[in-house]
Amino acid sequence: TPAIAATARILARLKDQPGPLLPVLHAVQDELGCIPAPAVQTIAEALNLSRAEVHGVITFYPHFRSEPAARHTLEVCRAEACQAMGGEHLAAHARSALGCDFHASSKNGDFSLEPVYCLGLCAQSPAVMIDGRPHARVTPQKLDRLLARTLE
Ligand code: FES
Repeated sequence: TPAIAATARILARLKDQPGPLLPVLHAVQDELGCIPAPAVQTIAEALNLSRAEVHGVITFYPHFRSEPAARHTLEVCRAEACQAMGGEHLAAHARSALGCDFHASSKNGDFSLEPVYCLGLCAQSPAVMIDGRPHARVTPQKLDRLLARTLE
């Protein structure tokens, strides 16, 4: 597969340097956008590690991902002012609308869902950010509209 071929090229370039695992993982993710399972297998074999060891390093560092990043990002403010203005309800709605928890992506890869701690919009809470753009006074209905508009 292309993922294995790319990983093999990276390994050929980096595997003989001292402490090669992290540089290899960075290079693979830069090239493929994530570190898919077949790449983990290839890396483990080349570096004489078990797949579990490689997987352990990938899950230890939040920077590394096993699945491609979602196309869009929804960040829901979970800090105090927003919590006081229905933020918990909004967070629950975001979870069910995307069908995933925080720090995860919707099944179809449209959105990743992340918590954020204050967007500076406390006076107009609750707030969310979609692809880096803040939105204030967000109700569940407004969130549905914003998500739909993002996908148009
Ligand atoms: Fe949510 Fe400040 S607490 S914007």
